[in-house]
Amino acid sequence: MELELPVTRVPQPRARPRDDQLGFGQVFTDHMFLMDWAVDTGWTSPRIVPYGPLALEPATVTLHYAQSVFEGLKAYRGHDDAIRLFRPERNIARFNRSAERLCVPPVDPELFLAALKQLVAVDRDWVPRAPGTSLYIRPVAFASDPDLHVRPSRTYVFFIILSPVAAYYAEGFNPLRIRVEDRYARSVRGGTGAAKTAGNYAGSLLAGEEAQEAGFAQVLWLDGINQEYIEEVGSMNIAFVIGDELVTPPLTGTLLEGVTRDSVLQLARDEGMQVAERPVGIAEVMAAARDGTLREVFGTGTAAVISPVGELAYRGERIRVHDGQVGPVARRLYGILSDIQRGRLPDRHGWMVAVEDGHADGGSE
Ligand code: COI
Repeated sequence: MELELPVTRVPQPRARPRDDQLGFGQVFTDHMFLMDWAVDTGWTSPRIVPYGPLALEPATVTLHYAQSVFEGLKAYRGHDDAIRLFRPERNIARFNRSAERLCVPPVDPELFLAALKQLVAVDRDWVPRAPGTSLYIRPVAFASDPDLHVRPSRTYVFFIILSPVAAYYAEGFNPLRIRVEDRYARSVRGGTGAAKTAGNYAGSLLAGEEAQEAGFAQVLWLDGINQEYIEEVGSMNIAFVIGDELVTPPLTGTLLEGVTRDSVLQLARDEGMQVAERPVGIAEVMAAARDGTLREVFGTGTAAVISPVGELAYRGERIRVHDGQVGPVARRLYGILSDIQRGRLPDRHGWMVAVEDGHADGGSE
């Protein structure tokens, strides 16, 4: 029997934006999930309450030392109107790996999944239906002690908020211009690069701002030691089609274990493509661009879905990828992935999880 959470509903639901007005992560639904952790109780008082501000003391640990972890996953409205989560157990497992790295107490996966399902079910009317839209789900756990010692907090808050979204990048599915970052570093061996934690994102902002001033959407990070090997974009993992092979950097602990990354590799294998997870040097990519074997570049991520890259700039050299257009591999994989998420293609890998009883998990046949 699934745990039933107490729900305090808003007295008056708020007006919802139309699907064609959606951007990313600026509109939130009527409700949120909350629970608290203390040494004596563990996680306690799980509840669904109206979305609203949290009261924090200025001395709250997370504001000073960034002891917090988060996740990003999505719910989709299927062609049959059923609402399904995409691979939530992967995000839950990654959340708990991030939590371990940041000394945040883990969340019981069953409770986590029950919270996701029930919160999304309460706000089911907020799940948009237009192509390219979804309900973005943001679980967060943060250190809540008012205490300036640098040590793990003895209290935490966990919340989940929901946001109806369209594309993450203003470009939508149009190819992005990306600058390869060769001055700043995002992560190094032994660091927190594989964890979804606030500080990783704060540390990437300056490089992102400088790239945007120069006309790029984002930066592509290289390894933090010699800045030779490609890592990730920060808001997404990265993949290259070189010759007939789909290549992406391996998970060595310095980059995020993307759920979309894993799904796209699986779909590419299903399509009969050669797939390799191996170190990819920036020199190899630039050489492949010069000799014409670099066919496509695209990012993969929950927010980014599959975002094609049309231009890469590295040390003053600019390369156009697939003539600045969306390539066939990105287009095909995007189509298959969204059709599975919308229940229009069979869910062969058992990725979709229905949020309400009465709807089978997985898409239609
Ligand atoms: C996601 O893809 O869910 C992310 O968390 C990336 C970014 C929006 C921080």
